[in-house]
Amino acid sequence: MIARMATNPLPQFPPGFLWGVSTSAHQIEGAADERDPSVWDAFTAEPGRIKDGSTAEVACDHYHRYPEDVALLAGLGVDAYRFSVSWPRVNSPGGLDFYDRLVDELCAAGVRPVPTLFHWDLPLELDWLSRDTAARFADHAAVVAERLGDRVKKWITLNEPAEHTLLGHALGAHAPGRRLLFDALPVAHHQLLAHGLAVRALRAAGADDIGIANSHGPTWAASRRTEDVEAADFYDVLLNRLFSDPLLLGRYPEGIGELLPGDVESDLKVIAEPLDWYGVNYYQPTKVGAPEGAEIEFSGLTLPADLPFSVRELEGYPVTDFGWPVVPEALTELLVGLRERYGDRLPPVVITENGCSYEGIDDQERIAFLDGHVRALHRALEQGVDVRGYFVWSLMDNFEWAEGYARRFGLVHVDYDTLERTPKASYTWLRAALRAQARR
Ligand code: BGC
Repeated sequence: MIARMATNPLPQFPPGFLWGVSTSAHQIEGAADERDPSVWDAFTAEPGRIKDGSTAEVACDHYHRYPEDVALLAGLGVDAYRFSVSWPRVNSPGGLDFYDRLVDELCAAGVRPVPTLFHWDLPLELDWLSRDTAARFADHAAVVAERLGDRVKKWITLNEPAEHTLLGHALGAHAPGRRLLFDALPVAHHQLLAHGLAVRALRAAGADDIGIANSHGPTWAASRRTEDVEAADFYDVLLNRLFSDPLLLGRYPEGIGELLPGDVESDLKVIAEPLDWYGVNYYQPTKVGAPEGAEIEFSGLTLPADLPFSVRELEGYPVTDFGWPVVPEALTELLVGLRERYGDRLPPVVITENGCSYEGIDDQERIAFLDGHVRALHRALEQGVDVRGYFVWSLMDNFEWAEGYARRFGLVHVDYDTLERTPKASYTWLRAALRAQARR
């Protein structure tokens, strides 16, 4: 495999900077019949939910092929691997044994295991509308930490509670498929509470390197008109600040706390448990303006006409096969913006996901995407943001939720008929880039 695209050497990152790749359980593991069902299994079984009609029953069959995948990680030369622990699998007899084997294999290969305790595959019998799910999540965290804590040092509580709330409960595009719009807000609160309780459970088990993977992207107002600026600000509250202010400032953005159930003030004390680092998943900025009074098709979603904002097409940038604009400089803007907003309350940042979907094994566009984003990350470092790591989404092509297998985010191609793995040009490029970092 040849990485044809001759990019200039990447700038040098500080010693100890953590390079990694990410995946999630439901998207790669398969072996669905060897675990309890999750909300994603039920959602996938509903006709029309998954665009290509596929399921994650086999996915990449990582559950059975993990030694091969760990060898790919070792060959790539990453320091760390972010994967997720399937809560329904942990609840199944022998389920934790799989993560035991995976963690052993990673340690033997010299790759640090970085598990996420929840990446959207909620056990079918649970529901984030119920406050009790937060307490159950803390139990789950304790069980996993007790089993893996001797070898796992770096932990992630939740993946993207914002997307799980928005797509799964407000818009119904993801499992569990509810379309509650603003009535989905308790789902956000219960996940944040779950996060805080899990931080406490992990600390009680001796963990001292805990973060979260929150999705963030700059919101750009469609114009300077007051209506557009106000609409963009509202969108930014819902998708960004609703999930970072409680964690980092111990309060909800104005107007949100009143909409939430329970004793929010006392919950906020739990939610704001200090973190050792703050994980950011970055994909794209969003342009937002005043409502236009019509349904909008955006990124595969149908947004209702009566929202107090409208999402606009961001023109003038290259787009990925998913139609997402490629805007590396927005990553610098995002990180500098987080530092400005949160100051000393912002712990060191780790980019826990960044990547793109493109077809093909000779994926020169992915190389250009990653090259641009790593440079943008370095510019944030130069501007004083304490960034400690960067994880590419994803190690390999996988089940891209409601899109099925149609979107390929991997550094490694997966043939879904034979399950054969083939490293793409981007894998070769990243391996060379990491070697060059290590040499300096
Ligand atoms: C999620 C991943 C997903 C990726 C690409 C993130 O929102 O954490 O599970 O595959 O984006 O859509």
